[in-house]
Amino acid sequence: MKHLIDPTDLTKQETDQIIALAGDMIANKAKYCDSQRYGKLATLFYEPSTRTRLSFTSAMMELGGNVLGFSSATNSSVSKGETVQDTVRVVSAFADVIAMRHHLEGAPLAASMVSPVPIINAGDGSHSHPTQTLTDLLTIFRELGQIDGITIGFCGDLKFGRTVHSLIKALSRYEGIKIVLIAPEELRLPDYIKQDVCCSESIPFREVSTMEEVLGELDVLYMTRVQKERFLDEDEFDRVKDSFVLDKEKMKLAKPKMAVLHPLPRVNEILPEVDSDHRAAYFRQVENGKFVRMALITKLLEWKDDPAHSMPVDKDRIENTGDYVCHNRKCICNHESLPPMFKRSPDGVIRCRYCDAKVEVKKR
Ligand code: NCD
Repeated sequence: MKHLIDPTDLTKQETDQIIALAGDMIANKAKYCDSQRYGKLATLFYEPSTRTRLSFTSAMMELGGNVLGFSSATNSSVSKGETVQDTVRVVSAFADVIAMRHHLEGAPLAASMVSPVPIINAGDGSHSHPTQTLTDLLTIFRELGQIDGITIGFCGDLKFGRTVHSLIKALSRYEGIKIVLIAPEELRLPDYIKQDVCCSESIPFREVSTMEEVLGELDVLYMTRVQKERFLDEDEFDRVKDSFVLDKEKMKLAKPKMAVLHPLPRVNEILPEVDSDHRAAYFRQVENGKFVRMALITKLLEWKDDPAHSMPVDKDRIENTGDYVCHNRKCICNHESLPPMFKRSPDGVIRCRYCDAKVEVKKR
């Protein structure tokens, strides 16, 4: 069975199949309107969401299926102390596929370990957001006609922005990608992504501190919101919250075909005056998100019993679990009783399998 926890759980070929199917769904809506009749999607959202949850709901409705679930943990048995794995064991009796958003990193992975139905990670803490990645890939393809060979600038909160982490991982499998990271010191991309993706897959990337110095080179500018809710220190948030603002003046420096993407919601990082620019693709991106989720649900259900579409082998897993400990306070493994799992990254660093944080050697 195939779950989607990390963007690389899908092979490049599977990713391209989903993007192609989404394209066909856009062109031939009527063909698919009854294709999941009687199908049920559960949306388990432990963290606030507007567009992702509604996008999943609307996607399943467009396919003729039904949706059940909860939109906040306070409305569910979680408030009685139920674990993620128990909730999923229960809900899988009621639904054919589950989309889960959780504030704890690794929660969807923990869910997938016990689930008899496909689990889709709809965002876990600051970690991953693979369905936004599919949305972004489809948007890039529709705006520019290609994904290979693009130069993409990521701007804003690259530290906590899970959409950035997932998209960079996914792009590492395309040809000729160049990445420019535009962020203040405090919000730079986590090392594990730089090491694992940018270095080991040899994607050229550079870090700059102003938008102006790179705008003219970019095919895609990926803007992000500073993720207030992920800061442990409010002063630090105040220092960086107005770091980068895209306005009409700056758009004059960009290529005539550059696409501006943003996973939304925006706060103040793109001024409304940019919205009428034909290069502002962020509202088109929202609609693409619905179609790509329709394609994803369809494919995961189609692949469910097909051994050719199983999860990738965990080849970096390490067995001596007693030697290490994950200290990430936002990791599910520090909140629920789960088997510790670790892996060795390409740079030799041992990381927690749930959240990717660097682990420490246990003191004896
Ligand atoms: C993003 C998220 O939830 O990570 N939004 C989304 O899914 N469309 C980005 C954000 O919250 O800033």
